Amino acid sequence: MKYLVTGHKGYIGSDLTNKLLRLGHEVIGIDNGYFEDCRFDEYPTKSLYQSIKKDLREITKIDLEGIDTVFHLAALSNDPIGNLNSTWTSQINNLGSVRLANLCKSVGVSRFLFSSSCIMYGESNLDTVDETSPVDPKTDYAKSKVDAEKKILKLADSKFAPVSLRNGTVYGLSEFMRFDTVTNDFTGSAMCTGKIIIKGNGKPWRPVVYIGDVSRSFIEISRAPINIISGEIFNNGSDELNIQIFKLAEIVANTIPGTEVKVLQKNDEDQRTYRASFNKIKKYFPDFKFQFNPNDGVKKLYEEFQGIGLKKNDYLSGKFIRMKNLTRLIENNLLDNNLYWVNKS
Ligand SMILES: NC(=O)c1ccc[n+]([C@@H]2O[C@H](COP(=O)([O-])OP(=O)(O)OC[C@H]3O[C@@H](n4cnc5c(N)ncnc54)[C@H](O)[C@@H]3O)[C@@H](O)[C@H]2O)c1
Repeated sequence: MKYLVTGHKGYIGSDLTNKLLRLGHEVIGIDNGYFEDCRFDEYPTKSLYQSIKKDLREITKIDLEGIDTVFHLAALSNDPIGNLNSTWTSQINNLGSVRLANLCKSVGVSRFLFSSSCIMYGESNLDTVDETSPVDPKTDYAKSKVDAEKKILKLADSKFAPVSLRNGTVYGLSEFMRFDTVTNDFTGSAMCTGKIIIKGNGKPWRPVVYIGDVSRSFIEISRAPINIISGEIFNNGSDELNIQIFKLAEIVANTIPGTEVKVLQKNDEDQRTYRASFNKIKKYFPDFKFQFNPNDGVKKLYEEFQGIGLKKNDYLSGKFIRMKNLTRLIENNLLDNNLYWVNKS
């Protein structure tokens, strides 16, 4: 089995690549390296694998030779990037992903796992949203995932199995860390500033899922027979991962001594709230367990941050905020108007 991970120099992709390598698999990574400087120097380096610096929009059939399974994670994974330029997210996440899926099908790749997002459920007043519920994409990012998912899943047939995994908001330590997702932000802030600040009322619901569980679930699903998974969508998580933002803050505060939680009650533009149902993934993969609920997961993350010696500056410098890094690359003219590297070395 030969695997391709796109986005292997990103937050989740690097964790997934590590796990595949530890299982002894042959892995190729393709990533254009937007965030390769957003790395914890303290993080142990991986064993040998083939890492290609390339834009996913320029992948060719040659790059896919001998690949059996593709984990497609490369994306602009950030809502505010849509405010910088409304076409980039669609060009990369939608058109780039659909082009790649077509290319994979044409060369005989058998499985294509698309890293999608539950955030496409937007603002839902249903008790729970499942894979058949209406979507309500509020941002360019969410729209790009809805559009790509539809087109990619249509490619399903008896030989090509595209699958969409709608992740909740992911947290946990990674080599290419992010502090712009809620649990990582709260935990980093509590450790480095002693405070958690919630802009709105903290009532929105979100599923939060531990990074190691996400990588394990990707691998588990990739091993299923093609006829079981082809063309399917899975909310990727388990029911106890749904939590209200203020509750999550409380868990972090109870885990990290001396944390003060401030709820500002300001009018939050972000009205997204939904509780995801994870019945389908449980039904299809009854033996697979998501190991970390929010309580255990926050404890684990706190230990991970202590283990790596998280410094105040790691959290405060913006080094691990995707939007800040992309803006820096654009302002320094390192990326062109279409987000390609100006100097492709
Ligand atoms: N982190 C989360 O909470 C979360 C939740 C749901 C879904 N997802 C999805 O999971 C995937 C991975 O997310 P992440 O948190 O690791 O994001 P990330 O930003 O850390 O990693 C994405 C990687 O993709 C690469 N990339 C972006 N555009 C590219 C292009 N045109 N060509 C080649 N490489 C490109 C970047 O360089 C980066 O290394 C994304 O598809 C994201 O939408 C993430």
